[in-house]
Amino acid sequence: MKVVLRSSRIPGFYKLPVKERINILKELVPLSDEEVNLLTNSGSLELKVADRMIENVIGVMPVPLGVALNFLINGKEYIVPMAIEESSVVAAASNAAKMARESGGFHAEAFESIMIGQIQVTAVSDIKKAEKEILRHRETLIELANECDPLLVRLGGGMKDVRVRKVSTFLGPMVLTEILVDVKDAMGANVVNTMAEKIAPFIEKITNGKVYLRILSNLADKRLARAKAVFLSDVIGGREVVDGIIKAYALADADPYRAATHNKGIMNGVTAVVLATGNDTRAVEAGAHAYASRTGRYRSLTVWRKNKDGDLVGEIELPVAVGVVGGISSIHPLARINRKILGVKSARELAEVIASVGLAQNFAALRALATEGIQKGHMKLHARNIAMAAGAQGNTVDLVVKEMIRRGKIRMDEARKILEEIEPS
Ligand code: MEV
Repeated sequence: MKVVLRSSRIPGFYKLPVKERINILKELVPLSDEEVNLLTNSGSLELKVADRMIENVIGVMPVPLGVALNFLINGKEYIVPMAIEESSVVAAASNAAKMARESGGFHAEAFESIMIGQIQVTAVSDIKKAEKEILRHRETLIELANECDPLLVRLGGGMKDVRVRKVSTFLGPMVLTEILVDVKDAMGANVVNTMAEKIAPFIEKITNGKVYLRILSNLADKRLARAKAVFLSDVIGGREVVDGIIKAYALADADPYRAATHNKGIMNGVTAVVLATGNDTRAVEAGAHAYASRTGRYRSLTVWRKNKDGDLVGEIELPVAVGVVGGISSIHPLARINRKILGVKSARELAEVIASVGLAQNFAALRALATEGIQKGHMKLHARNIAMAAGAQGNTVDLVVKEMIRRGKIRMDEARKILEEIEPS
């Protein structure tokens, strides 16, 4: 295919083999041979597999994969794969987990894997009657929905219940039929959406209404995971550190501007494990942030307090909709390997690990913030990135990093200057 003008209209692009798509971009952008090589070199996710996962594939976007160590959760040892580009996150999680071990590690639990599917019914003339009709047909709805996935039903899952909520909107009241589905070890979006679509016509019939949306809710508050850990005062640096962390938490509890950053730190850990295990990071993030707002104000996902011995107790609770079967978690070769490294047997166990990592990550950030600040640890790793971006390679990276830190100037211009001093061009 010959592309003359630089336009984003490329008819038939989606039908082409990956290499042909890349060739078009090569001409259009244009890209160098070296850049094309980087795009075609897709590492452990073969282009043909990636091409089946999304549309218009032209390559893969690798992020570093690390493992957090020291995690002891419910008495079991875990090596936790984390996929993330941000420096310090893996080290911070490992460090926090090491400190938590001194008092038995993390104690975590996850609810059953119940997902909520929503069916929006509008134009209902008699809302009370519609509500009654939906609930009266509970068994039929369950039966109908469960025809969608006999295997899930055989495993003890499937639609379990229905509830009705009346929602006032600026267009007037709407009736929401919500189905509660036990998705067992899957993330569950597909099965819930299929069920919602399947029963929608029947709901229209019994309510005399008009159905529009049929989709799961990412506010998976029937699929919560919790984790708790005690951090001994002596282990984490003394009473002042304990108090500093509780003060940091008090601010996150009171102020949404701080809570957003506090929770972002939690999600550094959560998202990294969700991604490494081939799960939907956006689903878990949407659920977490919506759950953080459940009281009407956006607040911390964790709670920190002091126990009678003066030690620090941390708890986290958030929805964790992740699976160990189905979806990308079964297709992506690295997701499979990561699950093997992690050694989780069920979606609930994975959710428990994720909640524990979120708590560990939050502890590490608050401890750093309440003491020396985060820049010291952060900058060491960040300095490596800067040194490499400036062109340092091999042993020179460490030399440039050391010198930037000595000069107290961790910046690209300084890295280039030092590089020029070490290796004059
Ligand atoms: C940075 O990625 C995360 C932190 O900002 C979290 C926090 O402030 O609690 C350090």
